[in-house]
Amino acid sequence: MRDEYLKDFYSFLRFPSVSTDEKYAGKVRECADWLSKKLNSIGLESKVVPTAGHPIVWARNEHKKGRPTVLLYGHYDVQPPDPLELWDSPPFEPVLKNGYVFARGATDNKGQILSHIIGIQETLQKNGELPVNVDLVIEGEEEVGSQNLGKFLTDNREALKCEVVVVSDTGMIAKQTPTLSYGLRGVAALELKVTAAKMDLHSGVFGGAVANPAEALARMLASLHDKNGHITVEGFYDEVVPLQDWEREAWKKLPIDADAEMLAETGAPALFGEAGFSTLERIWARPTAEINGMGSGYQGPGTKTVLPSHAMAKLTFRLVPDQQAEVIVERVKKHLQKNLPPGVTVEMTAGHNGPWYLTDPNSKFGRAAQLALKKAFNKDAALIREGGSIPIVSEFRKILGVETLLLGLALQDCRAHSPNENFPLENFEIGIRMNQAILQQLAA
Ligand code: BES
Ligand code: MN
Repeated sequence: MRDEYLKDFYSFLRFPSVSTDEKYAGKVRECADWLSKKLNSIGLESKVVPTAGHPIVWARNEHKKGRPTVLLYGHYDVQPPDPLELWDSPPFEPVLKNGYVFARGATDNKGQILSHIIGIQETLQKNGELPVNVDLVIEGEEEVGSQNLGKFLTDNREALKCEVVVVSDTGMIAKQTPTLSYGLRGVAALELKVTAAKMDLHSGVFGGAVANPAEALARMLASLHDKNGHITVEGFYDEVVPLQDWEREAWKKLPIDADAEMLAETGAPALFGEAGFSTLERIWARPTAEINGMGSGYQGPGTKTVLPSHAMAKLTFRLVPDQQAEVIVERVKKHLQKNLPPGVTVEMTAGHNGPWYLTDPNSKFGRAAQLALKKAFNKDAALIREGGSIPIVSEFRKILGVETLLLGLALQDCRAHSPNENFPLENFEIGIRMNQAILQQLAA
């Protein structure tokens, strides 16, 4: 790894480009400016495009007739670093330990997108040009649902005409194992606020006579699943396409012991999920209902005899073909309303959502990707689906009419969204080679 590449990586990682929290907006902007400058400096024409939210960085080489055009997508925004006390080193002060760079965004997505940029930089230095026309679209709102990118795609539909999209924002099934993902789950968010009294009350004076919103919320949330991990919302599974036999069989043959790895990586005492499905099936092909956050009452040291006035929870649902976010959220709302205990009211606010994605790994471009992966890694590519979501990928299909190749570089233990996120320099290097191989292959 050349020093200058590492220096770029560190500079990129030092921006706390947290998209969800307004107080970082200035830093998000600075990160976009830095990125655009970097892209200009390697010989691309780059600009920062403002949106109603965080800006988009858009760069391209000179497009020449007769060459295919590839749109490279990534994101420079990151998840919040919290909880800070669980980091071994500060999240925005990158450090290198045993070949791994630790920082928020190291894998998701700064390391992955930067390896493509460096791949392009090397090719331009060596050959003076690229084998294909490229557009790089790197946004600052992926971690909050890409609300403004669809409009950008629509507004620039003509200029962004391309044959295929390439994205490295997914995982590798195992170390040094090239991986092509052909599916993503969708996601839909819903926030709940349950209220009883208009203020916090003395629990000795009022407890027993006024409902407790924390308990009411707990009951409502508990009603979402049965004890076998099935979701009990009426109609929740109505549109779910059953897993095909060929896929079940193929996933059984993947070169990993998913259960053992997941137990080791998470430290959970046991795995748990929907009965009747394997771990990979649960993550890649089944929908979920998750509580991402809950709050109510006193959370400081010691005790406080309080009857809280309200309780809140943040929920998200992972969706699979052919579920639709709006429909699912409506059904969930109805379910929660039906399960509302007496003495409280509930306010439900739907948040961002993004659709699932499923494509053919053996399409013309899919096969080109498999060939490129084989060249970069010297090994056959594993074909997988993913449990995570990249909301814009289905818009590439809808707005630009093109499919997306998901060439992931994230490892199982990269700790994306968690404390101590990291990216191995080895994957950075593989990413550089992968970028060169895929652009070459798509030109052929
Ligand atoms: N890189 C992830 C998506 C991902 C994670 C794909 C794991 C495959 C495996 C992306 O940055 C992400 O975290 N997306 C969010 C989207 C959401 C906030 C709308 C997600 O999946 O939670
Ligand atoms: Mn992410």
